[in-house]
Amino acid sequence: MTTDVRTIEWTGDALRLLDQTVLPGRVEYLTVRDVDALVGAIRRLAVRGAPALGVAGAFGVALAVRQAAREGWDDARRDAAIARVRTARPTAVNLAAGVDRVLPFVAKGADAVAAEAQAVLDEDVRGNRAIGVLGADWILARTGGDRPLRVLTHCNAGALATAGWGTALGVVRELHGRSRVDTVYADETRPLLQGSRLTAWELRQAGIPCVVQADAAAPSTILRGLVDVAVIGADRVAANGDTANKIGSLGVALACRAAGIPFVVAAPWSTVDLALPDGTGVPIEERPAEEILAWNGAPTAPDGVEAFNPAFDVTPARLVTALVTETGVLEVSSGDTPRHVRSGA
Ligand code: MRU
Repeated sequence: MTTDVRTIEWTGDALRLLDQTVLPGRVEYLTVRDVDALVGAIRRLAVRGAPALGVAGAFGVALAVRQAAREGWDDARRDAAIARVRTARPTAVNLAAGVDRVLPFVAKGADAVAAEAQAVLDEDVRGNRAIGVLGADWILARTGGDRPLRVLTHCNAGALATAGWGTALGVVRELHGRSRVDTVYADETRPLLQGSRLTAWELRQAGIPCVVQADAAAPSTILRGLVDVAVIGADRVAANGDTANKIGSLGVALACRAAGIPFVVAAPWSTVDLALPDGTGVPIEERPAEEILAWNGAPTAPDGVEAFNPAFDVTPARLVTALVTETGVLEVSSGDTPRHVRSGA
């Protein structure tokens, strides 16, 4: 099974992004040639998902170097532009990590930066494939039996959120390839609907059965015994295994614990932030009030009401049954921590 979704591509002088704000209605691409356009695309979620942000950040440095040469910027202005890309969104550690990874190539010019960014992209696709296999193996061993599984996922951790294939959806794709998916419950993911707009779109393209449900339905669906396993992605995993992901993930984890089913986090090692001892230090992005207080531009709350719109939550390590990275599976709630896999990384 392959996926034709090309979230991000370097064209040689620009970044081509699949515009995720207009899916599933339209499949359109943006050609991004300068830093302002990239920062705007990241902030409005035209490109999104932690691993995809890492790749976009790495290519963003190539864009900045090209723009500096084209417009005669000095090094300080170029570096300030790179810093804007690096901080365009705060929660996914991959964005800063992607930028930092290519910084040593800046002195060699835009092509050298782009070549290293391409390596980040290629590694992500390879890593996702490994995550898919490792995650599927672990889930099948853990759930036992040979009937197809009912899988719940939250937000979009698919090909669209990565350089291709996906993390949580990579596991689902792998399970489907082994004829082991009964159905996927895709939480719609308020307020920007990454689950209904993006995950359901990807799953339909792949021919994987799915239903979309309101986020608020997830705990009840789980406790009614309709789900065998939940698999989600991550934006940042602290050294103790605390996991930041899209708002609503924590409720899924709590319900999984109450129901006694596994809550599995699938993420590349680049999402693990060993500099953070635990999840209390994860910067949680707060997004504009309009995302909560309006629908398609029309108000959905009284004038003057304020909104609280955190885009992510942190699930404590004790609720994370397994963390699947391309390097292996850690049974976090049983005491494994990311440090056991690659200390000092
Ligand atoms: O705000 P978003 O759409 O960038 O949030 C994305 C998520 O929360 C994903 O689950 C996470 O980045 C993992 S993507 C493989």
